[in-house]
Amino acid sequence: MPTLTFKPSGNTITIAEGDNILALMLAHGEKVAHKCDGKATCGECHIFLLEGRKGVSRLSPDENAKLDMMVGVGSKSRLACQCKVLGTEDVTVEVLSFV
Ligand code: FES
Repeated sequence: MPTLTFKPSGNTITIAEGDNILALMLAHGEKVAHKCDGKATCGECHIFLLEGRKGVSRLSPDENAKLDMMVGVGSKSRLACQCKVLGTEDVTVEVLSFV
């Protein structure tokens, strides 16, 4: 079964196709801000996708537009609320926002 690992906590969980990364973070005790509750408008759930890029859903137009407006964004940036795992490979993300 594929896994999702959170950095810097090192917490690793098993994942299934369609799981939303923000929902997984919240369900497993990762501290992450999420003011807009998954509408891709606040940018607080910014993560770096460190491993498993092919194991998550592609950037949506809304996510891409929000990332374009944010500072500190790089090629590994994603919004956790817009990111679903595909269940095809292990994924590692770095949690950037803390509450
Ligand atoms: S929760 Fe606001 S952009 Fe993801």
